[in-house]
Amino acid sequence: MPNSLIIAIDGPSGSGKSSVSRAVATELGLDYLDTGSMYRAMTWFIQNLGIDVTDAESVATAAKAEVIQPSIDPSEPGIRVSGRDVSMEIRGPEVTQGVSAVSAVPAVRELMVNLQREIAAKSQTGIVVEGRDICAVVLPQAPVKLFITADPQARANRRAKENGAEVSSTKDDLAKRDLADSTRTISPLEVAPGARVIDTTHMELSEVIAQVVDLARAAHG
Ligand code: DC
Repeated sequence: MPNSLIIAIDGPSGSGKSSVSRAVATELGLDYLDTGSMYRAMTWFIQNLGIDVTDAESVATAAKAEVIQPSIDPSEPGIRVSGRDVSMEIRGPEVTQGVSAVSAVPAVRELMVNLQREIAAKSQTGIVVEGRDICAVVLPQAPVKLFITADPQARANRRAKENGAEVSSTKDDLAKRDLADSTRTISPLEVAPGARVIDTTHMELSEVIAQVVDLARAAHG
C-alpha cells in the first residue's frame, strides 16, 4: 500500500470498531491509533491527581498532552501515562465511569485532537485512527471515512462477552455512555458528512474486515 493512507473510523462502544481497526491496520501494514484509549488515559491521569472529573475547570487546568503516550503498533496496542503502562487500568470501572465527563471538557478535546493530528501526520506507513469524532473533526480529509455501528443488543452482547460481565447491566452502561457521548455539545458522536455507515449487527468480524480492506484499496488505488 503506498504511503500515507488515512482510514478514519468512528462508532459507538461495542460496535466492533476496535477489532476491525486493528485487524485492518495489521492486514494493510498501517499504524493504528485508538483515540478512546487517549481519553481514558487522560481520565486516569486526572483521577490519579485526586481531581473530581465533574469539576471541568480543574480538569481543564490539570490536563496536559505530553503525558499521554499511545502505542501505534496494531500488534501491541497499549498506552502509557508519563512512561507508566496504564493499558489495564484504563479498562476498569472507575475510568469507564469518568471518561464521558473528562472527554466533554473542551480543553481536553483540543489537546487530544492536536496530538492525534500530529501522530497521523508523522505516520510513515499510513494509519487507521478510530474514535468518535475522527471523520468530522480530527481528520476530515481522510480518503476513507467510516461509521461502524450495530444495534444496542448486539453491542451489549459483545461487550459483556469481552469483559465477562452481565448483559443487562452492560446494556444499561452502554446506553448511558451513548447518551452522554451523543448529546454533548462539543463533538457529539454522529455520522459525519461523507462517512459510510457499516452496520455490523448481522455481520461476522471477518466480513467487516474484508469490506473495509476493499474500501481502503479502492480509495488508494
Ligand atoms: O472507545 P472507548 O469506549 O474506549 O472510548 C472511551 C470514551 O472516550 C467514550 O465514552 C467517548 C470518548 N471518546 C471521545 O469522546 N472521542 C474520541 N475520539 C474517542 C473516545
